[in-house]
Amino acid sequence: MTEPTTSAPADSPLIVLAGATGALGLLIAHHLRRRGAEVRALVRPASLSGAEAESLRRQGVQVVAADYGSGADLTQACQGAACVVSALNGLRDIMVEAQGRLLDAAVAAGVPRFIPSDFSADFTRVPEGSNRNFDLRREFARRLDKAPIRATSVLNGMFMDLLRGTRRWCWPARGWCFIGATPTSPST
Ligand SMILES: NC(=O)c1ccc[n+]([C@@H]2O[C@H](COP(=O)([O-])OP(=O)(O)OC[C@H]3O[C@@H](n4cnc5c(N)ncnc54)[C@H](OP(=O)(O)O)[C@@H]3O)[C@@H](O)[C@H]2O)c1
Repeated sequence: MTEPTTSAPADSPLIVLAGATGALGLLIAHHLRRRGAEVRALVRPASLSGAEAESLRRQGVQVVAADYGSGADLTQACQGAACVVSALNGLRDIMVEAQGRLLDAAVAAGVPRFIPSDFSADFTRVPEGSNRNFDLRREFARRLDKAPIRATSVLNGMFMDLLRGTRRWCWPARGWCFIGATPTSPST
């Protein structure tokens, strides 16, 4: 991997990144830094002393404590950002509620653009009620559409490393299994 710069040029945009210690968040932070962006990572207090937060600091990311229960704290953390990117992961309490408070904070801070934690297949084409995770994204998207902020939703389908790598996904009830890139019978 190319080493990122440790300090951003004075006129580089500030990107506020939630979920920056996660698998995807770390990658987003790394590539933003490589492109010269200033990055402010919102990290829950319990994760501040972890190796992931330390890795972010070493790359020149500003790591700040985030209380997803406090709109005032989140608004303060969003001040000056050109974009708020969410790489949060979880169920309703996170994808709708915590992410919703982050959206409200971005609006209150006058941030022009919000990127929600979709990073999924195109959930707008999947019937409502058929997939819980897509339903949560759809619910959040409705809220985002009504908010006075521009938005970009990343609908990338499945990350191919999930198929190419060592991960093993089985769903015996449906009769399929992926081991690396090979679809196979669950009994093998
Ligand atoms: N399309 C695909 O194939 C694919 C594959 C994987 C993931 N994704 C998507 O990418 C996004 C990020 O996924 P990920 O795998 O990077 O997630 P992850 O590794 O679980 O990280 C999620 C981050 O959310 C933060 N967080 C904030 N509040 C939280 C709470 N109450 N409980 C748990 N975490 C909380 C945590 O950061 P702190 O501890 O620092 O606060 C955590 O690092 C999700 O939308 C996920 O569905 C898509």
